[in-house]
Formats: sequence, structure tokens, C-alpha cells
Amino acid sequence: MQLIPPDYFRKLDRGEIFNNNHSPLEIDLGCGDGSFLLALATHYPEKNFLGVERLLGRVRKIVRKSKNASLSNLKVLRLELAYTVEWLLPDDCASRIHLLFPDPWPKKKHHKRRLINKKFCESLARILKSDGEFLFKTDHQEYFEESILTLDNFNMLEKITWNSEQFYPVTDFERLWLREGKEIYSARYKIKK
Ligand SMILES: C[S@@+](CC[C@H](N)C(=O)[O-])C[C@H]1O[C@@H](n2cnc3c(N)ncnc32)[C@H](O)[C@@H]1O
Repeated sequence: MQLIPPDYFRKLDRGEIFNNNHSPLEIDLGCGDGSFLLALATHYPEKNFLGVERLLGRVRKIVRKSKNASLSNLKVLRLELAYTVEWLLPDDCASRIHLLFPDPWPKKKHHKRRLINKKFCESLARILKSDGEFLFKTDHQEYFEESILTLDNFNMLEKITWNSEQFYPVTDFERLWLREGKEIYSARYKIKK
């Protein structure tokens, strides 16, 4: 279902996202059509999943698909990512945050629109539970390298190896880039609190 915050100008309580707030919460930033999130929510019924996406058509599609699949552990918030992480999500709420194939804003004059910067890292540190993880994938090498530099330099994040054993569905955009023969860059970090 769609998550409509009771108030957009204060942080949500954890219980306002999902009532059963003892279950682990995973957040997918820029969830697109949501097939990654739908697959995770089906695979892990004991966990909760929140997608954040600004395009209404995509949000509606996910809501429809999760209703058809009777998934009560998946919600979508239609909102801007930077605002959501900085101002809306509560402290220590998430066990994993996924950022998969975000817009790389390749033109130099647009680099300031890129999501990963020091402020974003500070938000990750605030939102993630201790031992929580941040998982990032992109097809854009230059954006990857710039992001890794920022993430590596943030002292509350520790790079860990990507566990290829874990159940981690291919996203819609990833499928597209793989079909085009593009290389996929991925990184995984643990929060140190
Ligand atoms: C390239 S797509 C990747 C979608 C999905 N993660 C995947 O891998 O298939 C990026 C998604 O993020 C959304 N998005 C981009 N910038 C956003 C922002 N500032 N706030 C909210 N959503 C955003 C786009 O609408 C789009 O659905």
C-alpha cells in the first residue's frame, strides 16, 4: 500500500511506517517499478519493506502489484529522496538501505543533483540501526568512483564485501544494462555506531 505520512514536516515514528515495528525494515531509495522490492518482500515475509519513489505511475504500479500478491509487508512512499532521508525517516529505523541505479547525472553542471554526498552519509548514519547496511549499485563508473570516495571518507561507514550468496534480485534497470553488456559496480557498507 501507499504510505501517506500524517505530517510531512516532522519525522515519522517507526510505528507510523509499519505497526509491527520490531520486524526489520529495509528501504529501497528510488524503487522504480518495484520488482526488486516485490521479490524481496515475497522472499522475506518476516521483514518490512519501504520503497521511496517520486513518479506516481510507478508508485501506483507497485501498490497494485503488492495488493495482487497480498503483501502486507511492503509500502511505497511517493516523495523526493533527499528530503525523505534528511527530514522524514526516523532515527535508527532501518536494517538495510538500498540505492540501486540512481540517476547518475552525468553532465558536470548537474553533479550537484547527485544523491551521495556528506549530508546523505550523515542521514544514513542517523537512519540505520547499529550494524545496519547500505547497498549501492550503478552502471556509471565515474559516478561510482566519486561516490565510493565520499562513502569511504565517512568515518561511520565501513566497506564490507558484497555477499554474492545472499538473495538479491536483479532490478529492472540492472536487467536492462546487463542486456546491453554494461559493467555493474556495487558496494556494501556497514554502519559503525
Ligand atoms: C534509474 S531508476 C532505477 C530504479 C530501480 N532502482 C532499478 O534499479 O530498477 C531511478 C529511479 O529513482 C527515481 N528517482 C530519481 N530521483 C529521485 C528523487 N530525487 N526522488 C525520488 N525518486 C527519484 C526515478 O523516478 C526512478 O524510478
